[in-house]
Amino acid sequence: MCGIVGAIAGRNISAILLEGLKRLEYRGYDSAGMAVLNSQTGQLDHLKRVGKVAQLDAALTGSPLPGYLGIAHTRWATHGKPEQRNAHPHLSADRIAVVHNGIIENHTALKAELVADGYQFLSDTDTEVVTHLIYREVMAGKSLEVALKESLKRLDGAYALAVIDQQQPDLLLATRMGSPLVIGVGVEENFIASDPLALLQVTDRFIYLEEGDVAAITRSDIKVESLAGEPVTREVQRFEHGHDAADKGLYRHYMLKEIYEQPDVIARVLEGRIHQGHVLEQVFGSGASELFDQVKMVQIVACGTSYNAGVVARYWIEKLVGIPCMVEVASEFRYRKTVCMPGTLFITISQSGETADTLSALREAKEQSYLGFLSICNVAGSSLVRESDLAIMTNAGPEIGVASTKAFTSQLVVLMLTTLVLARRYGFDDEQEIVAQLEQLIGLTEQVLALDPQIQKMAEHFVDKHHALFLGRGTIYPVAVEGALKLKEISYIHAEAYPAGELKHGPLALVDEDMPVVAIAPNNSLLEKLQANLEEVRARGGKLFLFADSKAQVKPGNDLELITLPDVPTVMAPIIYSIPLQLLAYYVACLKGTDVDQPRNLAKSVTVE
Ligand code: G6P
Repeated sequence: MCGIVGAIAGRNISAILLEGLKRLEYRGYDSAGMAVLNSQTGQLDHLKRVGKVAQLDAALTGSPLPGYLGIAHTRWATHGKPEQRNAHPHLSADRIAVVHNGIIENHTALKAELVADGYQFLSDTDTEVVTHLIYREVMAGKSLEVALKESLKRLDGAYALAVIDQQQPDLLLATRMGSPLVIGVGVEENFIASDPLALLQVTDRFIYLEEGDVAAITRSDIKVESLAGEPVTREVQRFEHGHDAADKGLYRHYMLKEIYEQPDVIARVLEGRIHQGHVLEQVFGSGASELFDQVKMVQIVACGTSYNAGVVARYWIEKLVGIPCMVEVASEFRYRKTVCMPGTLFITISQSGETADTLSALREAKEQSYLGFLSICNVAGSSLVRESDLAIMTNAGPEIGVASTKAFTSQLVVLMLTTLVLARRYGFDDEQEIVAQLEQLIGLTEQVLALDPQIQKMAEHFVDKHHALFLGRGTIYPVAVEGALKLKEISYIHAEAYPAGELKHGPLALVDEDMPVVAIAPNNSLLEKLQANLEEVRARGGKLFLFADSKAQVKPGNDLELITLPDVPTVMAPIIYSIPLQLLAYYVACLKGTDVDQPRNLAKSVTVE
């Protein structure tokens, strides 16, 4: 989704802004722009382009924007088409420039008011009202800071905003409510961005702004206040991940790099969390043990891939802990009347920690009598983490590919740790065995990655297909859903997943030679039943693409492509079997020539509803 970068320095900042935008490309966007206070002419110059940042870069070569103060943006269209006039920054009277992430919900009413006041709108965006509101306050004699605060009071909705004024060369304003924004702290220069990754080329020290913060930033000073004008202290934190995290190295795509990082990621998730075969409870945060003691039920809420991880956890929690576990997509949960049973732990799962629906679901849930709130998240300091009672990081490192891979496996590992700390309270005594199996995952993952050439070959069968069916049973059903999601996200092939037992209740009607059926069949108590389902597919002329282990008893034939995985402990199968499905989707997308890391219409972090 939209990305923000801003800088105030004693050197030319346009290359820094451009590099920041490139680093935010992975979030998904459709146009880009930049406004810089020209150090020679004193004018507020701007340039916008529809399409990729490369287009803006090319335009900047012909019309450079030299200056020491500037803001830049990648836009993912919500209000108004992806056209140059709708790209940010938006300007008022060539004096005030604004970039915005989020949605101003009452923009229609504000626009009517401003139009009545003589303001002309050049775009269809909700953002432009903010620009004119600030300008109007400035023209009424307010300082830029006060003008921004007065304008914010008029806004309903979510925002991260950066504002500059042509007449204030040493001031960059930044504020957030509902959308993330960080300040990158430099030496005699400072920066802002919607994601720290955008600024790793200039700093590794960050201030994470909190809801309602308004920051006045100069080259040498950062002042943060609440909307009401109270000074607030926000500590400077060092970014934990290495500088190469946002670099794809020798890999052709970030997605492939991230798939291959999974053995290291699993090792990182377990590091410091296990002691003598047991999960350490303090890694969930202070007060975790007391809270876990009272858990009688679990409610999980998430979106997309994170939701699929939650569905796997439901099987684990109900089997190993023996308490009820419900899972729901956040966009549904937040808008319906839900019933909270006493003793329910509310768990959110999110790679980014900023997904608008998940965050809103958490806020809704906080109005009810849940026992407590645990966030399973990949971004320390994210809104979800800050607003939860307990949090455990998935430690996957920055994930750049829009299609989530390593974040999913890391979530699964953390969900298993969570399952174990709950299960020990309900008399489960195989914790050491499961922990040993978790430790074996690293080697197993490497073995599965070694199947890459076979999977690459299998992908060739999908290139000319328009649909695909994925089947699994039990804990493997959500793995099938995730496999189908990966395929549709990056190869644009319509893919559906079904619990294999549902085959006869509809999807069997679709099976013919043009409908590849991907079946995920590790050895478990449902294997025989699944094998019967697969024969039903073959009997209808369907071609099977089977991921199974040495226990699978399937008749060889021209209608079967089999990839044999190593034998894995049953509970670990969802983690291991996800990986070949990621590779399958990846290679199909490569063969189809799609934009693997930035698939059309999708965004990495969905910070608007
Ligand atoms: C978007 C991303 C998905 C992700 C989902 C939830 O749709 O493209 O990869 O699973 O958001 O995001 P979260 O950051 O909350 O896990």
